[in-house]
Amino acid sequence: MCGIFGYCNYLVEKSRGEIMDTLVEGLERLEYRGYDSTGIAIDGDEIDSTLIIKQIGKVAALKEEIARVNPNRDVTFVSHCGIAHTRWATHGEPKQVNCHPQRSDPNNEFVIVHNGIITNFRELKTLLLNKGYKFESDTDTECIAKLFKHLYDINFQNGHELDFHELTKLVLLEIEGSYGLLCRSSHYPNEVIATRKGSPLLIGVKSEKKLKVDFVDVEFPDESNIGKPDTPLIAANGKAIHDSDSSITVTTNKKNPSAFLNGDGNSSETHDDNLLPIAANEFNLRYSQSRAFLSEDGSPTPVEFFLSSDASSVVKHTKKVLFLEDDDIAHIYDGELHIHRSRREVGASMTRSIQTLEMELAQIMKGPYKHFMQKEIYEQPESTFNTMRGRIDFDNNSINLGGLKAWLPAIRRARRIIMVACGTSYHSCLATRAIFEELSEIPVSIELASDFLDRRSPVFRDDICVFVSQSGETADTMLALNYTLERGALTVGIVNTVGSSISRATHCGVHINAGPEIGVASTKAYTSQYIALVMFALSLSDDRVSKLERRKAIIQGLKLIPSQVKQVLKLEPRIKELCSTKLADQKSLLILGRGYQFASALEGALKIKEISYMHSEGVLAGELKHGVLALVDENLPIIAFGTRDSLFPKVLSSIEQVTARKGHPIVICNENDEVWNEKAATSNLETLEVPQTVDCLQGLLNIVPLQLMSYWLAVNKGIDVDFPRNLAKSVTVE
Ligand code: F6R
Repeated sequence: MCGIFGYCNYLVEKSRGEIMDTLVEGLERLEYRGYDSTGIAIDGDEIDSTLIIKQIGKVAALKEEIARVNPNRDVTFVSHCGIAHTRWATHGEPKQVNCHPQRSDPNNEFVIVHNGIITNFRELKTLLLNKGYKFESDTDTECIAKLFKHLYDINFQNGHELDFHELTKLVLLEIEGSYGLLCRSSHYPNEVIATRKGSPLLIGVKSEKKLKVDFVDVEFPDESNIGKPDTPLIAANGKAIHDSDSSITVTTNKKNPSAFLNGDGNSSETHDDNLLPIAANEFNLRYSQSRAFLSEDGSPTPVEFFLSSDASSVVKHTKKVLFLEDDDIAHIYDGELHIHRSRREVGASMTRSIQTLEMELAQIMKGPYKHFMQKEIYEQPESTFNTMRGRIDFDNNSINLGGLKAWLPAIRRARRIIMVACGTSYHSCLATRAIFEELSEIPVSIELASDFLDRRSPVFRDDICVFVSQSGETADTMLALNYTLERGALTVGIVNTVGSSISRATHCGVHINAGPEIGVASTKAYTSQYIALVMFALSLSDDRVSKLERRKAIIQGLKLIPSQVKQVLKLEPRIKELCSTKLADQKSLLILGRGYQFASALEGALKIKEISYMHSEGVLAGELKHGVLALVDENLPIIAFGTRDSLFPKVLSSIEQVTARKGHPIVICNENDEVWNEKAATSNLETLEVPQTVDCLQGLLNIVPLQLMSYWLAVNKGIDVDFPRNLAKSVTVE
């Protein structure tokens, strides 16, 4: 969840102060994605030197650090490339040394900002350590910076002066994983490299003059004429092989079928005007393929480039953007943009178009979705994955929660665990209490923060108090946390917002890594809290042989959750239709659930209430006959969770009580469940089918149709879904 930003000017005179302001403002635009540290790299005072300024915390903290370092703001540059980064920690405490930019060495020869994960960084680090490199951070990114230096030095010593993009190609041959990265180097002053694989990256272009795209067609030499690709430094098995010392032999042949491209804000005049072609990709490709941004008469043109992981930080400057694709290496220098491919791929797209963004900022942040809530519902395949990323080893069925590890022995010794939260966060506790008790064999009580405080509930020194909060700022939860701290309990935070009050005040914890949640109705935070709590319970039981098989089943179940959520999202058209027919204009709705699904019923009802203003009640199915059944008739809409678990026969009987009173329930059931298929065929009952998973994880899938239902009920009523009346995203008052 990091954000990266870069700025390059050419023949547009800018002071260092203006360049720093542009970088900082770019980071501010990315802050909505989350942050826990920020940093920039710009030209220093010495010739070809790089100045790095970075700080833990929000962009405001970086501004203070810039003021403290106090670089001369008045120096001017006609050509300069600056890079910047805002980081959203995936686990552990953010530290100054872990902030980006990361560097190759104390002289800042190569400086990198990176979004993504380098999966073979341990092997690379070992190799580089053996070569005498000293690491200063725990980040995978530092390896990339050092690899740049290592490969540069080797080639330089062997008399090969590589272009920046040629060097990048060599680096990319060595790294595995995902990246969106920018690199600047004192060896390539006023140049920047932008490359991506699996992480978004785009380049905004701003120029007052009409620009020309100069196609450089490559006539491919016979492969035998090209230096063979270097033997990688690291073999597939992770073992170091030997250093690269390849020479680059390239034969190119220029043709110049030019096209013209207008600067920012003007309309284009010529055919194919917005196309920036990339010549065919070739074995061991290391040459310029396309060159952009000379003026029509071929003279150098004043131009500014804005590089970013997110269009939101670019639109203020220009609406003309080029989206890089995986394996693209963009090389910017002398006001020109060159795009290269890092590897050969048959069928890869040969053109990159400069697009004019028609969208406003809020729309860009929402992507193709109408509301943040809808976007966040649809982000769940990714957010649930991110909660588990780097923490679950699915091959060995093991869990590693860095923020809890040191505290697990103390937590295991506890006589009780108290979970405290509000609203949706409370429901995630309820959803996981049973599996928590089953795996940890410690009694768990669940508390609504306000009620817990109202009762002045007794808390003992050997209690473990778990505080669950998306914002990390909810006043009731925070007050309850202070109350337990005063009584000497060990406190654990399960929080989305890094650096929030609850995450700072608790002794230890887990960041759920769902990414920023902007819609007032909590959706992706719920599923990520749920998973974080399940992982917590799994960590507590990893020393128990008796739980081995159960743990394995849950861990393997978790692995499938992101793709299963994706499958559930396909129900949207059906749900949309139900919302505009059967459920339209209803005053009230009952949601029945039992066991693991009681929390789904409460959470579904809360979503519907807060977004669509329709009264809705989550009912424990076992309680139906103790009063609620009196409400049931042929008119009252009812939704029931009928997915398979040990309580299935009891749920079935409750639903039969409803149909016997002429109720027409919509049953959320597992795919191809014969019992429900038969009932749907013979009675007035409808089904919504979701994939089956392990009983304690089924709520992760079952809640999604209810999220979509609340969304469409609200949209149909013309309600501003992201800002329902009377509610705020973060409830910072008691
Ligand atoms: C409902 C919702 C609220 C929050 C509650 C706690 O959709 O968002 O019920 O869950 O206000 O907020 P956090 O989790 O930030 O402590």
